[in-house]
Amino acid sequence: MKKEEYKKILEELLKLIDEGVYIVDKKGVGKFYNEAMASMEKMNVDDVLGKTFYDAFPQVGNSTMMKALTKGESTVNQQQAYKNFYGKEISTVNSTIPIIVDGETVAALEVAKDVTNIRKVSDTLMELQKGGMTAGAGTNQKNSKIKRYSFEDIYGKNQAFADVVERAKRAADIDASVFIYGETGTGKELFAQSIHYDGIRSEKPFLAQNCAAIPEALLEGILFGTSKGSFTGAVDREGLFEQANGGTLLLDEISAMPYDLQSKLLRVLQEQYIRRVGGTKDIPINVRIIATVNEAPEDLIAQGKLRKDLYYRLNVVNISIPPLRDRLEDIPLLAERFLEKHNQRFKKEIWMVSDAALKKLKNYDYPGNVRELENIIEQAVSMADKEHVLNEKILQMPSATKKSKTSQIQYENVQPLDVYMSEMESNIIKDALLKCGGNVSKTAELLQIKRQTLQHKLKKYRITE
Ligand SMILES: Nc1ncnc2c1ncn2[C@@H]1O[C@H](COP(=O)(O)OP(=O)(O)OP(=O)(O)O)[C@@H](O)[C@H]1O
Ligand SMILES: [Mg+2]
Repeated sequence: MKKEEYKKILEELLKLIDEGVYIVDKKGVGKFYNEAMASMEKMNVDDVLGKTFYDAFPQVGNSTMMKALTKGESTVNQQQAYKNFYGKEISTVNSTIPIIVDGETVAALEVAKDVTNIRKVSDTLMELQKGGMTAGAGTNQKNSKIKRYSFEDIYGKNQAFADVVERAKRAADIDASVFIYGETGTGKELFAQSIHYDGIRSEKPFLAQNCAAIPEALLEGILFGTSKGSFTGAVDREGLFEQANGGTLLLDEISAMPYDLQSKLLRVLQEQYIRRVGGTKDIPINVRIIATVNEAPEDLIAQGKLRKDLYYRLNVVNISIPPLRDRLEDIPLLAERFLEKHNQRFKKEIWMVSDAALKKLKNYDYPGNVRELENIIEQAVSMADKEHVLNEKILQMPSATKKSKTSQIQYENVQPLDVYMSEMESNIIKDALLKCGGNVSKTAELLQIKRQTLQHKLKKYRITE
């Protein structure tokens, strides 16, 4: 094939893909710059093609492109946040690599993914955390949307469970890292908050981040912050470590954190300073880490999902919460507690649980643990009428529900079907959007709907503006 033919093929290819691509030769002259990149950066293709990098982006200082050209350095999946020409904030994840032939750098290539939509989601999360979960000096506690728990909120008499609570109380005193293992709904958040608010850091922020909820490429920026990247008007932003300074950071599902990031985290914990993504300054931090997992840590290590060295570093205090099915004797106490709580909420007056109802409650294995028990009680209370005793008939146990005929289900206090359907639809879309790195076209394709339809739904459910 002739050189021109290759060039034509490459040009056509670059038109088709959603990622932005920018390629410069060894002198920094733009050779390829596709429409996707132009629309991300709000530049004209002609302003970049045939011009040197320095002419096209005069304000950019120490860029990843320069690093690639002059030092042969690669940058992989670096998060960049910058304002485009019109002042709109754009977030991308960039990779820049030198093209080396016979030991000589002949070109540099940059690929960028627009993650602005995902970024919006994660920013909303950050805002919620800032306004909601941060407590203590200088923050508005009245705004607190997220419940603050303490040890008085933890119910359970089972010996193994009580031992774990004792351990957690001691952990609160010694201010060390804590590693919590418990299945979903066993109360990991409850324990983590109780440890924080009972310890010497209680006046300082408590922040939480679920490592599985954020796309891998953004997690580092969320944790450590971002610094002016290589683009005009790049944004400086503090991460959760800086926001939580002096306080506690709960890292939920730490095994979902990319392996590389786990080693960075370990370094941060050892050296006690962080560096923002793309930054050069070392920022001292003093944050207590509470990490959680919902599978056995040994298994996670064996599967290569959790770094052993990080685990040992975090596991100064080990809290292993037994599942509810192993402490069924706690059910009456917990049921009573949830009865009280939901009586208030639904303005009901159920004073006790019947023996038959307790028996039914104990005859189940609770894959969703205490949360599931609470949901069952909550549902029963909401359905109850004027009775003062919660009887077994009103209890909708999951296995019982499966067996029961539809006609036996009581349809009071149930939301209209379209409300459930909308909620489900919105969740599916959010999930797909995350999977597709925030790319609307790809998400539409994945869900097999028109891009326009998807955009309409994104607005409807306020997933993006
Ligand atoms: N021992 C307990 N006493 C009282 N309430 C509890 C107890 N354990 C859990 N709960 C309640 O159950 C619900 C779930 O708890 P929590 O959110 O702490 O679980 P989790 O382990 O963090 O779950 P997930 O893994 O899904 O994040 C909360 O409403 C919490 O208050
Ligand atoms: Mg949790």
